Amino acid sequence: MRMHLISSLAVAALAIVVSSCEKAAPPPTPAPPPVVAEVKKPILDEAQKKMFQALPDSFGTPTEAQVTLGRTLFHDTRLSAGHDISCNSCHTLTAYGVDGQPTSTGFKGQKGGRNSPTVFNAAGHASQFWDGRAGTVEDQAKGPVLNPIEMAIKDDKAAVEILRSIPGYLPLFTAAFPEEKVAITWDTYAKAVGAFERQLVTPSRFDAFAKGDDKALTEDEQKGALLFMSTGCMACHMGPLFGGNGFQKVGAVKPWPNLTDHGRKDLTKAEADDMMFKVPSLRNVEKTAPYFHDGQTATLDEAVKMMGRHQLGKELSDDETKSIIAFLKTLTGELPAALIAAPELPASGPRTPKPAKG
Ligand code: HEC
Ligand code: HEC
Repeated sequence: MRMHLISSLAVAALAIVVSSCEKAAPPPTPAPPPVVAEVKKPILDEAQKKMFQALPDSFGTPTEAQVTLGRTLFHDTRLSAGHDISCNSCHTLTAYGVDGQPTSTGFKGQKGGRNSPTVFNAAGHASQFWDGRAGTVEDQAKGPVLNPIEMAIKDDKAAVEILRSIPGYLPLFTAAFPEEKVAITWDTYAKAVGAFERQLVTPSRFDAFAKGDDKALTEDEQKGALLFMSTGCMACHMGPLFGGNGFQKVGAVKPWPNLTDHGRKDLTKAEADDMMFKVPSLRNVEKTAPYFHDGQTATLDEAVKMMGRHQLGKELSDDETKSIIAFLKTLTGELPAALIAAPELPASGPRTPKPAKG
């Protein structure tokens, strides 16, 4: 209605200008309309903006040699029994660090019970895994290699033997850990993988906004941010990662539809931990479907509505859901090109084990 009024006024004004041009000779050049920069009132006020935090540049300061080694190890399939699976198989770096499956496929095609979370920004979480059973990315890196349904190497000794059998690894480990007496160990392996993951940070338009550039987000995106706050999402998804900092009961208000996995209770056996899962980060969530620990939900639309229903007791309308998603998409960051490129792997030596039959 208002737009309509403004445009009819503009047409009328134009008509006056045109008609005045017709009769006046010589016509005084009509002063051009002043160019007023459109001053938009920010949607989020200063106090609300202060609740948002930008990502750091990295989650640690490893050396370049450590990062290079970690990047190589991340892609090395010889750390799997069948020589067919690396970290990158389930956390494909060019696909935002996920495998796009409801639950991951490991050794001999075995299915795990949980959805693979992204490795991007994971180093910034207070703990690792859906149930937080590892503290840091370094602790975490030791898990999948020895997990019988993931990479299925017999034990840490066998894993270290594999690394020592590949001649090209010794100079890489020595450069990365010059102070260690024995360069290739299970700990230095984990440190290198962790060092690489600590660089996997994906700043987005949202970070420009959080750092003070009001124009970095559109009005609709800011409205979505406001709705994300006022609906109550930020009670759990907070901090620079919008999650990753604590555990919450899944189905806090309305029971979760899938009760096969009990989260932290399966780990601690404490009744209070029943259905407690780590609140996942929402960075890049647009790109990391399917959603939730069990990967039961294929679309972001459905995931947001389920959160409203089960965590907050609210039925979000299509419009509200769309608005929140407009905001969530601003968290889709830029993937660091140099880090996600596949590295050249050092050649196997004579002692390197052959792949087990899969
Ligand atoms: C067969 C698929 C598979 C492989 C191979 C694999 N992962 Fe994972 N990864 C997963 C799944 C599934 C989870 C979640 C498991 C859970 O929470 O119990 C996970 C969790 C993680 C997490 C925790 C992220 C978070 O948000 O809590 C990190 C970090 C990670 N993996 C890194 C690695 C690294 C490094 C390697 C290689 C050494 C690797 N993964 C190999 C499937 C895989
Ligand atoms: C009471 C705490 C809580 C509240 C409130 C909450 N969430 Fe969650 N959110 C979680 C937990 C815990 C999970 C992990 C659930 C699981 O995997 O089973 C999660 C998962 C998600 C996921 C899936 C992420 C992934 O990678 O699989 C999305 C998307 C999400 N939440 C968005 C929202 C939105 C939008 C809101 C507000 C409408 C919201 N959440 C409110 C705790 C909460």
